Amino acid sequence: VLDIRKLYGEAGVFTYDPGFTSTAACESTITYIDGDQGELLYRGYPIEQLAEKSHYLEVCYLLLNGELPDREQMETFERTVTRHTMVHEQMHNFFRGFRRDAHPMATMVGVVGAMSAFYHDSTDVTDPRQREVASFRLVAKLPTIAAMAYKYSIGQPFVYPRNDLGYAANFLHMCFAVPAEPYHVPPELATAMDRIMMLHADHEQNASTSTVRLAGSSGANPFACIAAGIACLWGPAHGGANQACLEMLRQIGSVDRIPEFIARAKDKNDPFRLMGFGHRVYKNFDPRAKVMKQSADEVLDLLGIHNNPTLQVAKELERIALEDDYFVSKKLYPNVDFYSGIILEAMGFPTSMFTPIFALSRTVGWISQWKEMISDPSGRIGRPRQLYTGAPARDYVEVDNR
Ligand code: ACO
Repeated sequence: VLDIRKLYGEAGVFTYDPGFTSTAACESTITYIDGDQGELLYRGYPIEQLAEKSHYLEVCYLLLNGELPDREQMETFERTVTRHTMVHEQMHNFFRGFRRDAHPMATMVGVVGAMSAFYHDSTDVTDPRQREVASFRLVAKLPTIAAMAYKYSIGQPFVYPRNDLGYAANFLHMCFAVPAEPYHVPPELATAMDRIMMLHADHEQNASTSTVRLAGSSGANPFACIAAGIACLWGPAHGGANQACLEMLRQIGSVDRIPEFIARAKDKNDPFRLMGFGHRVYKNFDPRAKVMKQSADEVLDLLGIHNNPTLQVAKELERIALEDDYFVSKKLYPNVDFYSGIILEAMGFPTSMFTPIFALSRTVGWISQWKEMISDPSGRIGRPRQLYTGAPARDYVEVDNR
């Protein structure tokens, strides 16, 4: 066994914290979570109030700038974002290089990373103006890129953004309009989509945000950093949980099969987990899940979807789990992903689009955190240490003597 004092010195403090359960990697003024109380604040404002009274682009402004905008600031911000919604025409060719059946997240990781090859004039991270332009480009273009990835995956032509529509309505338009038929975005669905976007906009130092910050700490350009965040988000323990959750609800199929899956989730020899349950920080109800649950009811009502079997399974599963000793003792509550999939499915999205929608909504959080990190004069490259448990120093052995 190696004496770590020899490696790291007598005086220094060395913490070993797998999964970063108790290590703060930065100071931040953006988002606050109280996991025990189930509280989430963006720049001090409770998520419930924002979900009810604000709208996504206003939340974007708030996250990026620290304060709510006045009317003039909001109009200027909206105009600027709108001006950037189209992607460079040459990027269409880049999309066409992917296989048709590629997962939209795979396409997005590639295309967003490639933005640095198309938008050289906003990759100098030392220039605050370029950082600003990169933020606008990312917030504006992510819905376009996600919608293009979707259209490409189903073999339909790309739909150009419509700048007379709101942010969420324009995204629905780019996903669901087809050239042959007129498409009118139902305003209630645009509102529901806007709310989903607000609820996902930021969540302090989660895995993908930490990835963006770590990538950015080396001075990498913002497009590369956001592509890294998208790649990290894709995993089923993180943003990929919304797709996995809906697939699980479908697999359960009917309420009478719930006990079988609850038993599997509790069995330590079975890798199965209840997707959409549990959270590293929330040891109480995820406040986003409460809003999402109400939204799911409203959207299904609006669309006249009654007795939806997936929603019935979801509601019953939640009821049973919240009364079960295992889930109660481990403080496993439904998280944001538990209900978002039901809304998105009702809107007509395939499960493969759930995580891309999370990614486009979270982009503003990532970029706000990235800007905060870059502007910190004490910022240093992120460089975690390790607890080495491998072989001690030894001499090379020639191949004939092994
Ligand atoms: N179903 C069953 N048991 C669970 C679940 C679950 N969904 N989540 C945690 N547990 C159990 C674990 O088996 C572990 O039990 P043990 O103490 O007997 O070993 C205990 O609860 C603690 O779990 P950890 O994995 O140590 O908790 P951690 O904080 O590392 O993980 C995570 C949090 C990844 C979210 C986990 O709860 C999980 O896998 N949930 C399902 C996936 C999911 O919904 N992810 C979305 C998260 S929200 C987001 O990213 C937007």
